[in-house]
Amino acid sequence: MLARDWYYNERRRIGLDSAVAAIYDHRDDRDLCARAALSMLGVKPGWRVADIGCGNGILACEAALMGAEVDAIDISPAMLALAEIQARDRKVAIRTQTAGLLSFDYQPDSYDLIVSEFALHHLPDFWKAVALARIFAALRPGANFYLRDIVFVSTPDGEERNVEQWADFSIKNHDFDRSSVVTHMRDEYSTFGWVIERMLADTGFALISVDYHAPLHGTYLLRKPKHGEQG
Ligand SMILES: C[S@@+](CC[C@H](N)C(=O)[O-])C[C@H]1O[C@@H](n2cnc3c(N)ncnc32)[C@H](O)[C@@H]1O
Repeated sequence: MLARDWYYNERRRIGLDSAVAAIYDHRDDRDLCARAALSMLGVKPGWRVADIGCGNGILACEAALMGAEVDAIDISPAMLALAEIQARDRKVAIRTQTAGLLSFDYQPDSYDLIVSEFALHHLPDFWKAVALARIFAALRPGANFYLRDIVFVSTPDGEERNVEQWADFSIKNHDFDRSSVVTHMRDEYSTFGWVIERMLADTGFALISVDYHAPLHGTYLLRKPKHGEQG
């Protein structure tokens, strides 16, 4: 599939690595948040878990500490290098894969859980849907997909206020600087929450919960139905 000349080149996003890596190193509550999310998702020893767009690997390492077999997947070699350092420091094994949402290797119906946090917005909408279909195919029936991203929850005429609120929130809570917010709005592909929900439903996922909380944040818990179950 990757040989097709019309296939989206997701590696074009790699240029933003070092700035993002610097930001992510500052977030010292990330391991607690990751552990809480993984506990909520019921991760068990022996589960096969993938974190796609894993960044510096904090969630991947937490999942490995809980006994899961973890694939830490990212298009950025710089991020995966950080993930490997993280794994070494925390004395856990993770398997890194330099690939993206549109290119990661998988066995169909194999993962017990897939997580993707703040990576999907790197793809334009058509390619988001392609990525979601690949994730669906990779999950075993009955398994969950936990998706978080920057999404718009209102109509375009409300965006100026929302984006400014989001900029203030991100600068205050996540050590972002304004230029990361500007880059996100100008050069990346966040879309409306309702578009994501429709894509997820059309892919076949059952929507277990959706939460639009901090400005422009969407959290979705999805389940791949078992054979014969309704989506
Ligand atoms: C904002 S960071 C989020 C990292 C991590 N998930 C977290 O929440 O801390 C976005 C990550 O997505 C990666 N990325 C960008 N485009 C991607 C793609 N098409 N597939 C997979 N990962 C991608 C970037 O290299 C970066 O590590």
